Amino acid sequence: MSEPKKLYIKTYGCQMNVYDSERMVEALGGSGYVETQTPDDADMILLNTCHIREKAAEKVYSELGRYKTLKSEKPDLKIGVAGCVAQAEGEEIMRRQPMVDLVVGPQSYHRLPELEAKAGTGSRAIDTDFPEEDKFEHLKRRPKAKRAPAAFLTVQEGCDKFCAFCVVPYTRGAEVSRPAERVLQEARDLVERGVREITLLGQNVNAYHGAGADGSEWTLARLIWELDAIDGLERIRFTTSHPNDMQDDLIEAHGTCKKLMPYLHLPVQSGSDKILKRMNRSHDAQSYLKLIERIRAARPDILISGDFIVGFPEETDQDFEDTMNLIREVQYGQAFSFKYSTRPGTPAAERDQLPEDVKTERLHRLQALITEQQRAIQDSMVGREVSVLFERAGRFEEQMVGKSEYLHAVHVTDPTIQIGDIRRVRITQSNPNSLDGQALN
Ligand code: SAH
Ligand code: SF4
Ligand code: F3S
Repeated sequence: MSEPKKLYIKTYGCQMNVYDSERMVEALGGSGYVETQTPDDADMILLNTCHIREKAAEKVYSELGRYKTLKSEKPDLKIGVAGCVAQAEGEEIMRRQPMVDLVVGPQSYHRLPELEAKAGTGSRAIDTDFPEEDKFEHLKRRPKAKRAPAAFLTVQEGCDKFCAFCVVPYTRGAEVSRPAERVLQEARDLVERGVREITLLGQNVNAYHGAGADGSEWTLARLIWELDAIDGLERIRFTTSHPNDMQDDLIEAHGTCKKLMPYLHLPVQSGSDKILKRMNRSHDAQSYLKLIERIRAARPDILISGDFIVGFPEETDQDFEDTMNLIREVQYGQAFSFKYSTRPGTPAAERDQLPEDVKTERLHRLQALITEQQRAIQDSMVGREVSVLFERAGRFEEQMVGKSEYLHAVHVTDPTIQIGDIRRVRITQSNPNSLDGQALN
């Protein structure tokens, strides 16, 4: 038997890329590749990229620069660019980066083995189509190897919302939902391999409307209830949701489905109605606050997380204050915030831009407020009993690290805990980015 070839894959961007990278490793397994953790001994380097902000896209080019020497020492080394930068700038990458052998967009991963073979014969390969076929159907999981206890599962891809700042509708294409039966099959398969928590993924996951086994279209809530019936699957999460797609049955499920975890990532982006309009978000601050109220009525302890963009074109001091006030009202347990970054081809990129120092100052203020809220919620966990799914060993002897139902990282030192265990834990201390606790059972 020939030596397996080594694949080094580096993943940027969102969880959907993490999921895609796993699928690509499996697909290339069929071409004789095994994964390696260092680029130095790789036969193929694959960058799974993100285009969401300028900085994210730039990383690809600086990373490629690092491989120049490697490639000149090892001419057989194949270098590939996948993901959203490949989709958005694939042709240009091919033109400007002669060291790149292969470019593949997010909808064409099932063609990766073919492209890899083609790139091997001295020619270069590019595929940034949006084919009709379901890429996941062709990306069958290979050996039934044991897995970590928490896994991602993509159920929906693409976006039809066209927020004025965002590249996703262009890089991932139109909204598509995977048929429910395929999702359930994949979930059962994951559970057989040791998975106890599944996070359903989609750029707009709550817009899910996949074909159900009965021929009707299933909502995300319906899919969650079907997953709830799988023995051995203990926890269900989903991300990312759009406020406008938060339907009644999904809100209700947060109150009634025990396996659905009390954590919801529900980005609002801004608290100013004028800016929300200019962002083409199709919801206003009031409707978002009402929605949060309804979700909290269904599940009072739910932890709300969000995304914010500061310094969007035309954002005044007052608009920014409106965002700060919305944050004060919601009380976030977690949030991601960004300075607006112009993205080529999106409507907002053409508008007059705010000075960088204004963006920086607003971002600092917003992040300080979020950190305060995050800490307060985390600190309020001390003395409480939570359930923790343990995912890995910690840095210290006999220390294990897991996630509470609220997605807080929890550290427990206890020799009886195994990876994959779900245990009741009393929280004893709140640290900057984690909690400490003691196992109760
Ligand atoms: N589908 C999700 C988010 C996808 S992108 C949603 O609808 O919310 C993840 C986050 O990146 C967004 O929520 C937004 O806060 C941020 N983002 C997207 N485009 C951006 C841009 N051009 N500049 C800065 N932040 C951006
Ligand atoms: Fe981007 Fe808006 Fe779609 Fe989210 S809903 S992926 S922010 S266009
Ligand atoms: Fe980035 Fe593409 Fe995800 S642009 S955030 S990797 S969908």
